[in-house]
Amino acid sequence: MDRKEFIIKAGMFAGVCACAGACVLPKGEQIEPKKEEKIDFTIDLTNSKFADLQKIGGFVYEKLIIIVRKGDTEFLAFTQYCTHASGVIKFIAQKNHFECPVHYSQFDLEGKVIQSPAINPLKKYKTERNGNLLRIFE
Ligand code: FES
Repeated sequence: MDRKEFIIKAGMFAGVCACAGACVLPKGEQIEPKKEEKIDFTIDLTNSKFADLQKIGGFVYEKLIIIVRKGDTEFLAFTQYCTHASGVIKFIAQKNHFECPVHYSQFDLEGKVIQSPAINPLKKYKTERNGNLLRIFE
């Protein structure tokens, strides 16, 4: 076996070993597709990051969700993305609805479309306040 032939055979052997090691899982283990995680998190309303929630009509974005202070004790939470083409929606307190600045779709306080071009409603999440903590969950 000359040097060139040795290098080729050694490379092939290393490749087979690497594949065998990577392709064999311990008994009983399977590769699962990543499941979509459920939304469930809590924010501290005293955190300066959420200062806009101190006033009624204020809103913030956290974990791809828009959180709105609707009243003294009422908070709303929806996905922050417009269902038309994923613009980031805003809460318009004076008009009491959500609006997308991209093509101006509008959504009511339940997330239903009140002005197209969006067709589908926003996904709404539940909120639960406990003192200065606000939980957002499905
Ligand atoms: S992306 Fe929101 S209306 Fe088009």
